[in-house]
Amino acid sequence: MTLAITPGTTTAVPAVVGADLRVPLVTGERVTYANLDHAASAPCLQEVRDAVDELLPWYASVHRGAGFASQVSTRVYEQARDRIRRFVGAHSSDAVVFTRNTTDSLNLLARSVPKNTAVVLFDSEHHAALLPWRGPNVQRVPAPSSSGAAVVALDRALAAAPVGPRLVIVTGASNVTGELWPVAELAKVARRHGARIALDAAQLAPHRPINARELGVDYIAFSGHKIYAPFGAGVLVGRADWLQQAQPYLVGGGATSKVTDHGDRLGVAWSAVPERHEAGSPNVVGVHALAAACEILSRHWEQTVAHEQELLTRLQNGLRTIPGFRELAILTDADKVGVVSFTISGFDAGFLAAALSAEYGIGVRDGAFCAHVIVGRLVKQVGSHEERAVRASIGLGTTPEHVDRLVAALRTLVTEGPKWTYAQRDGRWVPQDDNRTLPPFLA
Ligand SMILES: Cc1ncc(COP(=O)(O)O)c(C=O)c1O
Repeated sequence: MTLAITPGTTTAVPAVVGADLRVPLVTGERVTYANLDHAASAPCLQEVRDAVDELLPWYASVHRGAGFASQVSTRVYEQARDRIRRFVGAHSSDAVVFTRNTTDSLNLLARSVPKNTAVVLFDSEHHAALLPWRGPNVQRVPAPSSSGAAVVALDRALAAAPVGPRLVIVTGASNVTGELWPVAELAKVARRHGARIALDAAQLAPHRPINARELGVDYIAFSGHKIYAPFGAGVLVGRADWLQQAQPYLVGGGATSKVTDHGDRLGVAWSAVPERHEAGSPNVVGVHALAAACEILSRHWEQTVAHEQELLTRLQNGLRTIPGFRELAILTDADKVGVVSFTISGFDAGFLAAALSAEYGIGVRDGAFCAHVIVGRLVKQVGSHEERAVRASIGLGTTPEHVDRLVAALRTLVTEGPKWTYAQRDGRWVPQDDNRTLPPFLA
């Protein structure tokens, strides 16, 4: 077990790969990288890397190989379904379909719902959850300003939804604000109206335990790269019936049990779920890494939550002292995971992000975070004309020093200005005369 305790924190948490990464500054120095962009992609856990290393000598073809290593790899791949099922507290009958990421999982679900399913969602969703559902059967509910209002709004929307199959899509934690949505209450409302509910857990799964049965959700989607297992796997867990009735998401080997030649056409018998939607050679390494990350997090929830909440408080308290700082918020009464999006009046978000990287070795996100509708609205609410914000997000790789460095750097940028010259190129701010060198493997 690899745990790390960083100066200034009180809890030991699973250690990440790259905690000591040194990055160049435009000024020629090198500093430890302050990765405050966990919400986009989290670093790999050391234990996940160990699990991958352990598998690699055994890595071989999955499902069709008779060789012993193939049998080991197949066992690893198939067992991962139970490991993931346990992580999200799913029913034993739930399908576990491996995908590339949350986007892939939600697109698969969108392709699998019965025709004319009425879909209800809040317009604050990430594009991965917002865009697969379009057309006359989709009701987009304006994002509410409190958890209670969310429940009332969903109740109203479902009361007005046409009869027939119904599906609610909801995020567990907003990628813009980190706020935790009242999933159990929303699921209760969905149930009362005969609707199923799908949980976009991309931002929730790395930060809080999930129990599908207790929450009452029917589907859960999340990504390996956000849960400290960046090896290209994601997952959709949930009720098997719609998935079983749907046409395969991709067609090809693995999704078929039998193909027959009828001269002018091919006869195809499609496999049952989960293989039905997993055509092509599966990502055994990614799936094993994903399952390993789930188990590691499951053993350390208490420390993980305490570590992140401590840093979140430090981050919010620090940022609130910066002149012109305005934090974006949707559900003003909700608890949140370690995500803070903000504007600083008079400063472009892209410029701030570029200067934080170039002069301070800090990685944050700027833009509209694949949630254009809600970010456009929230930045207006805080008096900004740009449809962009800065997002700082924390996780297991974050230290108090990273947080303090961000706060100090922003204060210096806002009160004294940058030390370097920046220009806009192709719509992005970049430092001029940027001589930072890439790592040798890229040279
Ligand atoms: C809430 C939420 N849902 C879905 C996604 C899409 O995840 P992925 O890019 O891994 O498919 C993201 C990614 O940022 C997200 O934050």
